[in-house]
Amino acid sequence: MAYPRVASLKTHDDFVSHLRDSDIEMPSDAEVESGDASPLAQSFEVHGQTVGNRWSILPMEGWDGTTDGLPTDLTRRRWRNFGLSGAKLIWGGEAVAVRHDGRANPNQLLLTDKNLSAIESLRQELVDEHESHFGRSDDLLVGLQLTHSGRFSRPNIKSLTEPRTVQRNVVLDRRVKITDDSAIFTDDELSTLIDDFIEAAVRAEKAGYRFVDVKHCHGYLGHELLAGRERTGKFGGSFENRTRFLRDIVSGIEAATNDLKIGVRLSLFDFLPFHPGADRVGEPEPGGEPNKVFGGGEDGLTIDMTETSKLVDLMHEIGIRMICTTAGSPYTNPHIQRPAYFPPSDGYTPPEDPLAGVARQIAAVAEMKKKHSEMIFIGSGYTYLQDYLPNVAQAVVKAGMADSIGLGRMVLSYPDLPADVTAGTVWQRKKVCRTFSDCTTAPRNGIISGCYPLDPFYKKRDERKQLNDLKKALQA
Ligand SMILES: Cc1cc2nc3c(=O)[nH]c(=O)nc-3n(C[C@H](O)[C@H](O)[C@H](O)COP(=O)(O)O)c2cc1C
Ligand code: SF4
Repeated sequence: MAYPRVASLKTHDDFVSHLRDSDIEMPSDAEVESGDASPLAQSFEVHGQTVGNRWSILPMEGWDGTTDGLPTDLTRRRWRNFGLSGAKLIWGGEAVAVRHDGRANPNQLLLTDKNLSAIESLRQELVDEHESHFGRSDDLLVGLQLTHSGRFSRPNIKSLTEPRTVQRNVVLDRRVKITDDSAIFTDDELSTLIDDFIEAAVRAEKAGYRFVDVKHCHGYLGHELLAGRERTGKFGGSFENRTRFLRDIVSGIEAATNDLKIGVRLSLFDFLPFHPGADRVGEPEPGGEPNKVFGGGEDGLTIDMTETSKLVDLMHEIGIRMICTTAGSPYTNPHIQRPAYFPPSDGYTPPEDPLAGVARQIAAVAEMKKKHSEMIFIGSGYTYLQDYLPNVAQAVVKAGMADSIGLGRMVLSYPDLPADVTAGTVWQRKKVCRTFSDCTTAPRNGIISGCYPLDPFYKKRDERKQLNDLKKALQA
């Protein structure tokens, strides 16, 4: 595809000219301010708690827990890095399964009674690291992401899909090897799962987390239910039924906890599944069903957030005040979800300038923020902006298009980015994530995740050679 790498856009003027020439709309400030009075250093309030600045860390797992679901030293290091980043909102840390069959991989964290103190110490290490760098943590808000991975569950063996889902889907059933209805959760099974979410939330509160994220994104179970239009019974069909899972979890958590807050990570919109077409460029996979896409238009390839907006209203009604936005799914349309120049091994060459993907998410969040100004929205998908991430982040926050800027991949390669921006220190160009996608390619091939190209800690590990050999073999 004919689009330049962001690293080749040497000045902010070059970046802005490229956006203009490509009809990609997003705001960007020429100068990034630093210091306590700067736009990104401003605090905001949510649920009566002060959040000390406009940076959030997005949830990111490393496929590096034990098979019992306990954190390892690698998990702890990642969480300490989240703490030293300087971001004042830690959105979920990483996906933590509420029970074994919902783990996305055999090394995903699991929130059982047995694992409670370890999951608590993970938070404590993050907070301690934050305090040691910034002298306080009273304005730091830390939540835990709760998940069931639904059709993308692989709880026992890395290479073995053990999907549980809510409705059949021609393209996705093929991908995860569903051949009959036995993978579909019954209504009773979903009711049991609701109880499991509630129990996990009680544990999260005991472990000191201030909020839980009831995950509804990326094609996992909660998200799939939102699009369960063809499901029959009390969890499918009407909007009311498709949101029952969320509503029942929220009311159950409220009844069972003392002061735990609830947020939702939500795919605001989605597209049909893509696959590599001619020359490996991504294209919609034949057979996709637009009716099973949440937040999509009639063709499944455009955005229609009518129902998303209705859902945000509903969330407000049931006491939710924070939404961590995202879009699409890393399995089915990664160019929508995490724009990248270099695709992961199971991906495809992006069918568009990845900056268009960044702009799409920014515009969707701005639309929701405009309609629902009473809610706090966290933006995602900014990493591809690379050297211009702070410029766009500042402009977005100043324009009120999002309340906080979430960092995903960038924090793996450049953990102290928020602190550097606030302090106005020299931009550490060699730490800037260039979206090589190794942190996705590795786990897709059974290797722990990490920033192998740029993080000196991962550069030295044996897995780096394993990963490079694998990439060579895949290219051959
Ligand atoms: C290695 C890796 C692990 C991730 N794990 C999670 C996760 O556990 N939960 C989640 O909601 N999103 C997860 N994501 C998605 C990120 O939170 C984020 O939405 C995405 O990377 C886009 O943001 P970015 O452009 O800043 O990277 C993960 C992304 C990566 C790269
Ligand atoms: S491996 Fe590192 S450079 Fe590559 S996408 Fe992930 S964080 Fe970015």
